[in-house]
Amino acid sequence: MPVPGSRLPFDICKSVLIPMTILIADHAGFCFGVQRSLEMAAKALAERHELQCLGQLIHNRQVVAELEAKGLRVVSSMEEVPVGGAAMVRAHGAGPATYQAAERRRITLIDATCPFVQRAQRAAAAMAEEGYQVLVVGERDHPEARGIVEHTGGRATVVEDPVEVDGLRLTDRVGIVAQTTQSAEKLAEVISRVRPRAADVRVADTICDATSQRQAAALNIARQVDVMLVIGGRHSANTTRLAEICSAGGTPTHHIESADEIQPQWLAGAARVGVTGGASTPVSAIEGTVRRIEELTAA
Ligand code: F3S
Repeated sequence: MPVPGSRLPFDICKSVLIPMTILIADHAGFCFGVQRSLEMAAKALAERHELQCLGQLIHNRQVVAELEAKGLRVVSSMEEVPVGGAAMVRAHGAGPATYQAAERRRITLIDATCPFVQRAQRAAAAMAEEGYQVLVVGERDHPEARGIVEHTGGRATVVEDPVEVDGLRLTDRVGIVAQTTQSAEKLAEVISRVRPRAADVRVADTICDATSQRQAAALNIARQVDVMLVIGGRHSANTTRLAEICSAGGTPTHHIESADEIQPQWLAGAARVGVTGGASTPVSAIEGTVRRIEELTAA
């Protein structure tokens, strides 16, 4: 099995008789926060055999199906959890109302909020507490961004596109935080549009390095290969973004959920194939993809 960043001499691609190399991007697959949440879910399920999760634990159907077989159930609010039951807050985090409802309903809470998300929640809450007008650079409908806003008592405004800043009525004191998976460029552009219009601008750079490192590593590999395979859930925003980045670099790129989606013609004539996976992609899916490439090119 190739290791991330490795270059392996590979089987001859017999149809075109050229040696093939598979390059796996560094940082492919689960980030720290997702890995941690899965370990917490596995431990809780081993102890109780039944656990409700507020929303999909991760955007990966195969992994979710495995957990559901062990007793994980997805619910959309704490009100759906039986009184006295157990519920999990996923890595995206949740707002204070979720914790209050859990307490009211005597629910055992397994809180897998990623510590980096908690950092963003705390920064936004502190700014709001100190009277700053809070802007959250993020995706309006993303559960993490919604949770951060809830930690400001609903007072923060989500900025999806930096140009939105120009249409906002700003106060003299503006605090800016970022959803952890946002790009540094977007955050910088929001800051540059706010600074000339507010006397006191406080910034908490709450972007998580895992995302930028995975993206940089994927682009680095994409630039060296003839075709790039990006593995991860169709609904995974970070996997979709990875595929966009690789594709924008000019490399033919395919976003797949599992290895059986690989079309042999994608590999025809390719001397180098790159592989990466999103933050919700298990190592087994990356290994399966490598095996499938081996099978197809050895046939
Ligand atoms: Fe946490 Fe960063 Fe992953 S915020 S959930 S380690 S992408």
